[in-house]
Amino acid sequence: MKLAVIPGDGIGPEVVAEALKVLDVVLPGVQRTEYDLGAKRYHSTGEVLPESVLPELKQHDAILLGAIGDPSVPSGILERGLLLRTRFALDHHVNLRPSKLYPGVGSPLAGNPDIDFVVVREGTEGPYTGTGGAIRVDTPHEVATEVSTNTRFGVERVVRYAFAKAQARRKHLTLVHKTNVLAFAGSLWQRTVDAVGAEFPDVEVAYQHIDAATIHMVNDPARFDVIVTDNLFGDIITDLAAAVSGGIGLAASGNIDATGTNPSMFEPVHGSAPDIAGQSKADPTATILSVSLLLEHKGEAAAAARIQDAVAADLAGRTGSSSTTEIGDRIAAAV
Ligand code: IPM
Ligand code: MN
Repeated sequence: MKLAVIPGDGIGPEVVAEALKVLDVVLPGVQRTEYDLGAKRYHSTGEVLPESVLPELKQHDAILLGAIGDPSVPSGILERGLLLRTRFALDHHVNLRPSKLYPGVGSPLAGNPDIDFVVVREGTEGPYTGTGGAIRVDTPHEVATEVSTNTRFGVERVVRYAFAKAQARRKHLTLVHKTNVLAFAGSLWQRTVDAVGAEFPDVEVAYQHIDAATIHMVNDPARFDVIVTDNLFGDIITDLAAAVSGGIGLAASGNIDATGTNPSMFEPVHGSAPDIAGQSKADPTATILSVSLLLEHKGEAAAAARIQDAVAADLAGRTGSSSTTEIGDRIAAAV
């Protein structure tokens, strides 16, 4: 397997180092190419994602990304120019974000809620396409528009992926949207779910408005198995999902081209956390679990399961706080 590694900024390199430590144990011999993209590269050369890099990334079987973003770079430059550009260029239309509350892990929710669901977030459309504009900027009459683009093709492929996922799990799919207000896109999503659902008669379908979904995720998260939603709703709800299921330090994700044409990219849901960078304070578990998703995606189910089991055992046994490297060492030893 050829793996491209983008450690990135802040805590990115720290958590990636631990994830690679674990990968080397479960699947030795993975060929790695490191790409020094991120804030440092931007400051030294002005480059965010050089033209030559995308074709190179495509030569790999998968990509592992730590985190990007630094207060020294104007907000949005690296997010849009590096992260979103890669997701779009490599057609990562499925943004897969599982949420599971492992035994022994605290949740801010009362009691011991049953949390085990996945959010299938659309990854290449919605309000993330950069469509829109502003006129009369900096005048009292400024108008800014941000267009949400939803294509039948784009919605259908992510909905089909979500149904297949639900069929392989507890056979329940919830469409999350805001069809009562966003009538055009909402109608497209709802009709697509109805149509594709006919191909999956054994999967039960539910619908929730995004605002109500946030309440249910806190009050009754057990009702969710697979959630399918658009790019922006998915961004927001997966931060909430992480918060209720052990925190952002445990939340893994995969940016997937489900056709297999381009390499998929795996990354923790969290950002570069510059406030704790360089202090070995970051929890590498989200990145380690992202490697597990990567292995699952590449057909290495046994290796993926070993990581999940080792993470579960580590979380169950945690007392007090551990450093980034201590957690990585423990999980690497346990796999
Ligand atoms: C995420 C992040 C990104 C997103 C940002 C950094 C562009 O919040 O991966 O969830 O909105 O997708
Ligand atoms: Mn986000």
